[in-house]
Amino acid sequence: MPSRLIRLSLRFVLPLALALGLTAYAVVPLVENLTLRWFVRDLDARSQSLSNALQDPLGEYLATQNADRRIPQLFDRALRDERLYAIAFCDPVGKLTYKTNAYPASLGCAPAPESNGKPEALIQLPKGPVHVSSNPVERDGQYLGKLVLVHDMSFIERRSEDTRKYVLMLFGVLAVVVSLITVLVAHLSWRDWISSVKGILRGEIGPRPQQQSTPPEVRPLEGDLRALLHDLSMERRSRDDTAYQWTPEKLRTLLHEELAGDEVLVVSNREPYSHARTPRGIEVQRPASGLVTAVEPVMRACSGTWVAHGSGSADRETVDASDRVPVPPSNPAYTLRRVWLTKEEEAGYYYGFANEGLWPLCHIAHVRPVFRSSDWEKYELVNQRFADAVIREARTDDPVVLVQDYHFALLPRMVRDVLPKATIITFWHIPWPNPESFGICPWREEILEGLLGSTILGFHTQFHCKNFLETVDRYLETRIEYETSTISYGGKLTQVEHYPISIAWREPQPEDPSVAECRDAIRREHGLPDNHLLAIGVDRLDYTKGILERFQAVERMLEMHPSLVGKFTMIQIAAPTRSSLDEYQNFEARVRALVQRVNTRFSSGNYQPIILKAEHHDAEQVNRYYRAADVCVVTSLHDGMNLVAKEFIAARDDDRGVLVLSQFTGAARELHEALVVNPYHIEQSAEALYRAVTMPEIEQCERMRSMRALVKDFNIYRWAGRMLLDAARVRQRERILAKIRQHSRKSLRRVV
Ligand code: G6P
Repeated sequence: MPSRLIRLSLRFVLPLALALGLTAYAVVPLVENLTLRWFVRDLDARSQSLSNALQDPLGEYLATQNADRRIPQLFDRALRDERLYAIAFCDPVGKLTYKTNAYPASLGCAPAPESNGKPEALIQLPKGPVHVSSNPVERDGQYLGKLVLVHDMSFIERRSEDTRKYVLMLFGVLAVVVSLITVLVAHLSWRDWISSVKGILRGEIGPRPQQQSTPPEVRPLEGDLRALLHDLSMERRSRDDTAYQWTPEKLRTLLHEELAGDEVLVVSNREPYSHARTPRGIEVQRPASGLVTAVEPVMRACSGTWVAHGSGSADRETVDASDRVPVPPSNPAYTLRRVWLTKEEEAGYYYGFANEGLWPLCHIAHVRPVFRSSDWEKYELVNQRFADAVIREARTDDPVVLVQDYHFALLPRMVRDVLPKATIITFWHIPWPNPESFGICPWREEILEGLLGSTILGFHTQFHCKNFLETVDRYLETRIEYETSTISYGGKLTQVEHYPISIAWREPQPEDPSVAECRDAIRREHGLPDNHLLAIGVDRLDYTKGILERFQAVERMLEMHPSLVGKFTMIQIAAPTRSSLDEYQNFEARVRALVQRVNTRFSSGNYQPIILKAEHHDAEQVNRYYRAADVCVVTSLHDGMNLVAKEFIAARDDDRGVLVLSQFTGAARELHEALVVNPYHIEQSAEALYRAVTMPEIEQCERMRSMRALVKDFNIYRWAGRMLLDAARVRQRERILAKIRQHSRKSLRRVV
């Protein structure tokens, strides 16, 4: 018999045996007492009838001469009853006249105790307990004396002994029979139990398939198990949110402790470092990408491998034979693995499907998405190429893969198919639209299926998670548990969570230029007087960023507050992006035209209300602008998070400066002390801009301090840490489930 079964049975049998033993212990004295009462009552009756039988002869003999001879003979005959021990006769004055030999002298002619079936009426003699009864002897209505009958009760002890033996034997047999039944039932139920409990455990991160209904005997357990797992998960969650100060070191420790020995692979389209051929030789460049800004510090902390498109003009010259290059070039901390694309592939996958299709599809900026079959084919092909690269880079069969953004919606499933044990965390850096908007994509099912290859699917906000769940609900046959935000598809679970992205918090360093220095330098560089009011905008030249609306707001503010003309300038840093697309070229042209119109309207001498700097600026240069500005303006029409808002806050260690922030950014859900605007409402934005440039320092300080405290704590290490902790939790759960499966398979084999 399998040892698990024996152990399981013992778990039932031992308490049962104990309970039966205790019952027997209590029952035996009860039974003894009861039988004793029966015997005493029996003897009361016997004594009475024997007295009655002896009445007549005794009365007769007492009246004769030879009473002394005949009465002892009468008594001896009566003593043939083995239980009758002794007889005596006392005359009316209480004198012991006749007695058999064994009659105890101590009894004399004292009145016998009233018995009435009570065992307490027994008298203890040195030989043992005796039953004593006395009955009057009468003849013709005359009282002649009393007859005392003494019955031996020692046989009762023998019988009690027997009773005890039989009762214990009965309970013993009962215990064995019940144990056998228990073992049999446990044996028969084991398989059902295991599969049911496994089902519940699996359901913990997702819904239980309806066809697998829980057997009634497991139902009471189900709620408890789910509650326990939920509590564990909540406990871990709250620990994530409060207990840690998120730093690179903390993230490293966490990786070591929670994902010990596990490797981290990142995959994104944009590479964190590109090499460009310039007249000065090969130069390293950093792209203008919120994604790169966020994920790069995480990779520095985790030391894994980052797979990305090698798009720099000198990228091929700087990799090794395996297309790898250690980065950051100055102080390598992780490996960049470059993937190459042809011009056609890049045109179809990146410019076409990703940026003419998915980008406008997911951003509500009123630009129509364009979907072409040829782009889709390239998108599939490139996703497969990156998936292959990830699989080749993986040293284990269960790596943690961090998939970045809308360029790789199909990749999670491709990796999952080859590495079923991988933990795939996909982060969607842009908004997710409502089901109707997403529904116009001709390959919507394929995209959803691809994403559901992920273990965890992350968005910036809860609202985007909700949109995604509703989209899946609309277009795929899945089971969704809204409460736990999980989707069960094809027997696999995907957890959909919101992880608001952030930046790496950096405390000011002594070598950093001071705010005053930056203010002076930037104003000097642009020919502006010292007290000139300065607003800054930092964006890619993208139609989602609300740059046109921002300039219209500047124009409106100058109209409404002409006193600011000549005293206020907006510097817009606009990094060129996706410039080969018509939509972006048209957009740039419209931006330039608007700048020109506003400047023509309000400029005088050297003064221009808007300075457009449509070129790439590195992080250090941008930081100087942030520190020099009075106001930072973020007016995105739709934005997943917007890290410019957080970068500006991090740059202002002087606690000054005002943030004007679009309500359509993920950041607006966190930065409540910003002046939040609807960028489509030009007057409202203009007023907010005016309020910002005229805000008293004390108010600036209060608002900025509060936002700085938030960004400092809710930094990029926390973003990554929470995802990795969740991944560790899922992996641990999967390992437990695998063990349960393995164990139950073994037990089943033994049982069968
Ligand atoms: C957004 C996207 C990123 C992208 C970045 C820059 O932030 O979410 O994935 O890298 O824009 O765009 P680009 O097309 O230049 O990579």
